[in-house]
Amino acid sequence: MSGYKKIGEAELKIENKVIKLPLFEGAEKEHAIDIGNLRSETGSITMDPGYGNTGSCFSSITYIDGEKGILKHRGIPIEELAEKSSFLEVSYLLIYGHLPGKKELNDFTTSVTRHSMIHEDMKRFFNNYPATAHPMSIISSMICSLSSYYPDCFNSDPASVDLNIARLIAKVNTIAAFSYKKSIGQPFIGPINRLSYVENFLHMMFAVPAEPYTVEPVFAKALELFLILHADHEQNCSTSTVRMVGSSLANLYASISAGICALWGPLHGGANQAVIEMLTRIEKERMDVKDFVQQVKDNKKSGIRLMGFGHRVYKSFDPRAKILKKACDDVLKKIGKHTALLDIAKRLEETALKDSYFIERKLYPNVDFYSGILLQAIGIPVNMFTVMFAIGRMPGWIAQWKEMLESPDLKIGRPRQIYTGPVTQPYVPIDQRI
Ligand code: CMC
Repeated sequence: MSGYKKIGEAELKIENKVIKLPLFEGAEKEHAIDIGNLRSETGSITMDPGYGNTGSCFSSITYIDGEKGILKHRGIPIEELAEKSSFLEVSYLLIYGHLPGKKELNDFTTSVTRHSMIHEDMKRFFNNYPATAHPMSIISSMICSLSSYYPDCFNSDPASVDLNIARLIAKVNTIAAFSYKKSIGQPFIGPINRLSYVENFLHMMFAVPAEPYTVEPVFAKALELFLILHADHEQNCSTSTVRMVGSSLANLYASISAGICALWGPLHGGANQAVIEMLTRIEKERMDVKDFVQQVKDNKKSGIRLMGFGHRVYKSFDPRAKILKKACDDVLKKIGKHTALLDIAKRLEETALKDSYFIERKLYPNVDFYSGILLQAIGIPVNMFTVMFAIGRMPGWIAQWKEMLESPDLKIGRPRQIYTGPVTQPYVPIDQRI
C-alpha cells in the first residue's frame, strides 16, 4: 500500500519489558503506532471504547483534519467539489479513485440511470409495512433484499462488482421515494431516464399521476449540494459498520444495509431529524434561546443536547456546516420563503459559540445543524431526512467497502475485550434459584 511509510519506532515499557512498535506516517503526516504484535509480545491489549484513538485501516479515500476544519476527497477540498462537481461525479471519484473523464462519467451515469427500476415483486414488499413504519427501516431491509434479486453480488469479479455498485446507487433513490409514497398513500411514480439523478428523485417523490410535475431547478441544485456534502466522511460509525460487516465477506447489499441501520441513530445520521424537532419545539413553545442553551449546559440533569453540535473529529468548524448555512440562506431567498427555524438555528449557534461551555469542549455546528432546514425548504418530510443522508453517503460506503475488499491486508474485523464478569459461578438448578 503506498501513501504511508514507516518513520521509526515507538517504545513501550510494560513492567520491565520494553518493546518496540513500528511508527507510521500517512500522506498528510498523521502518525500511527502499529500495535499488531502487542498481545503476542506482552499479553496486553489496548482499551479504547468508542475507538477515538484506534485506526482501523489505511485508506486513500477521504482526509479530515478536525482541528483545522478540513475535509478532502481523494485530495480535493469539499468546498471545490461542492461548487464545481455533481453527485455522480463525486461518487465516481470516491469509488474509482479519480475524477472521471467524459466517457467514464457518461458510462457511469448511463449505468446508474438504466438500473433505477426495481423488480416488480419488490414493489409488493412495501404493502407489508405499516403506514407508520420509519422509512429507514424500510430502506435498510429493502437494500438487504436486493441481494436476493442479484445473486451476482456474491461474485468478486470486477464486472459484477461494478454492476452491483451502479444498481445500488440507482435503486436506493427509487426505494427511498417509494417508501415515502407508500407512507402517504400515493401511487409509486417510477424513474424517468431523461432526468438527472437528483431530478429523478424529486420527480419520484413529488409527482402524481393526476397532473404534470416540473422539477424546480433551485431544489435540484440544493439537493445535489446536500448529497455531495454527505458523500463520505472516512471511518464514522456507519462506514465502520459497513467495513466490519463486509470484512466477513458478506455481500455489498448486506454490508450497506447494516451501515444504514447504524446511520439511523440520533447520535449519527438521525441527528438531522433531531435538529428540526428541537428547533420546532423551541418555536412552538416560544422558548427563549438562552434558556434552551442553559438546559443543554445542564445536560447531565436535563438529558438535552444541542443536536447538530459537536463532533468526534471536528474540534473546529465542520466545513460542511458552513456551506450548508450559506445554501439555506440562498435557497430560502431564491424561493422567497422565510422560516423561523433558520432564525432560531442562527441565534442558537451565535449564543452557543460565545458560551464557555461550548468553547471549552470545542463544540461547533456539524453537518446536521443546517441540513434539515435545507431539506425542509425542498419539501422533504422530516422522517425522510436520515434517508437523504443515506442516499448521500451511499458512494462513500461503497468506496470504503470496495477499498477494503481490494486490500491485500483484508482481515475479518474482530476486536477484543477485557472480561469483567464473574470468574466462576456454580450452575444452580432452576427449582433452587431465588
Ligand atoms: N450538546 C451539549 N453537550 C455536548 C454536545 C452537545 N451536542 N456534544 C458533546 N457535548 C459535551 C458532552 O456532554 C461532554 O461534556 P462533559 O465533558 O462535561 O461530559 C463533552 O461535550 C464531550 O462529549 P462526548 O459525548 O464525549 O463527545 P463524543 O465525541 O463522544 O460525541 C457526538 C460526539 C457527535 C456524538 C456529540 O457531540 C453529540 O451527541 N452531538 C449531538 C448529536 C449530533 O449532532 N450528532 C451528529 C454528528 S455529525 C454527523 C454524523 O456523523 O452523523
